[in-house]
Amino acid sequence: MSKKSIRAIDAVQEAEKIAFAPFVFQAVVAMRKLGIFDLIFQQRKRGGISLENISKELKLSAYGVGVLLEIAESYNIVDKDENNHFELTTTGYFLAFDRTVDVNINFTQEVCYKGLFHLTEAIETGKPAGLKELGNWKTIYEGLSVLPPDIQKAWFEFDHHYSDEVFQEALEFVFRNNPKTIYDVGANTGKFAISGSKYSDSVSIKMVDLPGQLQIAKNNVAEAGFKERVSHYEIDWLSENPQLPVGANAIWMSQFLDCFSEDEILVILKACTAALEDDGEVLIMETFTDRQRFDNAKFILEATSLYFTVMANGNSKMYPSTVLMKIIDKAGLKLIEDRAVGEYHTIFACKKK
Ligand SMILES: C[S@@+](CC[C@H](N)C(=O)[O-])C[C@H]1O[C@@H](n2cnc3c(N)ncnc32)[C@H](O)[C@@H]1O
Repeated sequence: MSKKSIRAIDAVQEAEKIAFAPFVFQAVVAMRKLGIFDLIFQQRKRGGISLENISKELKLSAYGVGVLLEIAESYNIVDKDENNHFELTTTGYFLAFDRTVDVNINFTQEVCYKGLFHLTEAIETGKPAGLKELGNWKTIYEGLSVLPPDIQKAWFEFDHHYSDEVFQEALEFVFRNNPKTIYDVGANTGKFAISGSKYSDSVSIKMVDLPGQLQIAKNNVAEAGFKERVSHYEIDWLSENPQLPVGANAIWMSQFLDCFSEDEILVILKACTAALEDDGEVLIMETFTDRQRFDNAKFILEATSLYFTVMANGNSKMYPSTVLMKIIDKAGLKLIEDRAVGEYHTIFACKKK
């Protein structure tokens, strides 16, 4: 067994960083909310800003600003120069202004933070034990449409951030065979249905989701002017023997199957196979753990898996592509195209065997 060698003094420092990680996280949240990061950034060309001036400008006690800056300096989030003026480090800059870090921090704080306390119980029971901090549902998806506004906003921004960027490229792939009828399974807020209807003026799209989500999606679709070509179908994939209406040329599932366990995915893919026209295709877009070029992307996916464990449903995760390939085969489908889209996503196109 190989052990990376690390000096004991460095190892204990790493261990203490983990022991107090929630303190640092909450200090960062506070510095973002109180405007401390913004103010330090604004003063960068004037040689930074002192603790006293931060306190004066933001009408906060020097004590309060001081405890935050102290731990931020130890964590290499801010730097203090010889005049005791603070500036953001590159890490501090990312914590304050990077969009991906921003959605991840808001998602962690608003959706997951309180619930993560119950992770041990979630592992022991296979239930999303942290969800009780948000509401009394079996899965988070039953509650999505009625979450308090700040929590709902953080959830949707996290979800959309990772699919929006690749939608254009994904649409070109989805429409390469000009499908007439597409089912958007896991339609969520109707974003795909709206962009698909804009992309093609002849396609009909059926949004498939839980009733609460469909209500939001239907309103968005009507507002965008596509009510005539976008229909909907209510389903709970966790109910007994879920089925789709027959007749799809394409079934689109984006960031959807990771919301289910392997056994549940098999049930879903079998139902998709049964609903597909003979020459139709199932299109699965996912961020697979074994298809990431950068360690930070893999790390985000691993953290997202823990969100599924403790908050979402207790039994799903971000999967490696190999797991999905096996289930696709078991469901009576064959993988015919395997396409990388954007920086992180893969689309699997599958046909009936
Ligand atoms: C992570 S979102 C994906 C949203 C969208 N496809 C995208 O790419 O951004 C998962 C979607 O699956 C739906 N979903 C989760 N559990 C479900 C269930 N048991 N039955 C039906 N839909 C479900 C949720 O309501 C949500 O809209």
